Amino acid sequence: MTLQNKKIMVTGGAGFIGSSLVRELIKEQAEVLVYDNFSSGSLKNISEVEDKITIIEGDIRDKNLPNILRKNEIQFLFNLAALPYIPDCYEKPFDFLDVNTMGALNVFLSVKEAGVERMIQYSTSEVYGTAINTPMDEHHPTLPQSSYAAAKLAAERVAYTMYHEQQIPIIILRQFNSYGPRGTHPYVIPEIISQLSKSNQINLGNLNARRDFVYVSDAAKASVALIKHKQAVGEVFNCGSGDDYSIKELAELTAEIMGVDNLKINIDQSRLRPLDVHVLKANFFKCHQLTKWVPTVSIKDGLKETVDWFNSNGKTWPWINRKTN
Ligand SMILES: NC(=O)c1ccc[n+]([C@@H]2O[C@H](COP(=O)([O-])OP(=O)(O)OC[C@H]3O[C@@H](n4cnc5c(N)ncnc54)[C@H](O)[C@@H]3O)[C@@H](O)[C@H]2O)c1
Repeated sequence: MTLQNKKIMVTGGAGFIGSSLVRELIKEQAEVLVYDNFSSGSLKNISEVEDKITIIEGDIRDKNLPNILRKNEIQFLFNLAALPYIPDCYEKPFDFLDVNTMGALNVFLSVKEAGVERMIQYSTSEVYGTAINTPMDEHHPTLPQSSYAAAKLAAERVAYTMYHEQQIPIIILRQFNSYGPRGTHPYVIPEIISQLSKSNQINLGNLNARRDFVYVSDAAKASVALIKHKQAVGEVFNCGSGDDYSIKELAELTAEIMGVDNLKINIDQSRLRPLDVHVLKANFFKCHQLTKWVPTVSIKDGLKETVDWFNSNGKTWPWINRKTN
């Protein structure tokens, strides 16, 4: 099927992955509505496409959401709105459960009430906890190691149950670490780039943690591909690159790309997480089998694109602006 002229809501569409997804949906000639409370997202992230989309400022917990969906005749929905930055959940677990679980529940019920044809619930590879075996497919045990991951797992369990109980047409996407332009939080790649732009001596947390990094436009393309398939409803899909890198390897590769010699990495104890996931590496075969999707951007090219964007954005990130605002 095609998404041409389909009316599609992207909650969290002003955020990092959301703004990339919006760009992909525009390429598909869909009619896109961004619904965002701008807590971490910003208009700047979607400024180049602003004239092609509708933007509504709102919260996914709003009980009026079904009316907004109906009024705008929304046919498909991607729920990316969330509090996603793990270090914040240690301070605000209530907020994380409230937005990431209860907010998602409100989206599911609104989708049902408004008769939306299909939606994707953005979940996370963090629901798995550290890998017991790699690469991890969708049957890998789930053992979340943060209240962020617990909240996301709760949301996807509710989604799965509600599909069976009430036929709410939800697809669950377990996104592995994404990186690229417009990063909205001090995740490890934006942090490495920022620090390397100033010095060859950088401070990082757990250097041995291994993660599967998928370039943001590849990630967005996977969810665009999935929503086109009715058979995806009620199913869980991984989206990752299938490769894993340690934080140390990532810092070395980024230093090479940025032309920084004599890299020195210090361990910053304050960056170590109380409970950390050691390894995440995706098996994305299920998504590939249904949609033919494969990641196309190599880590080297993706990092280069990200560094180029950072340089063209005045060597800053949206989260740095947010802090100083
Ligand atoms: N970035 C990653 O590597 C990654 C990995 C796995 C899963 N995810 C998931 O992907 C989604 C997008 O993450 P991201 O990295 O783009 O984060 P982000 O913070 O850039 O995007 C979240 C967006 O949701 C908005 N938002 C937050 N609370 C809201 C609310 N109550 N109502 C309406 N809008 C709200 C924010 O303003 C922001 O635009 C999240 O659901 C996240 O859990 C991200």
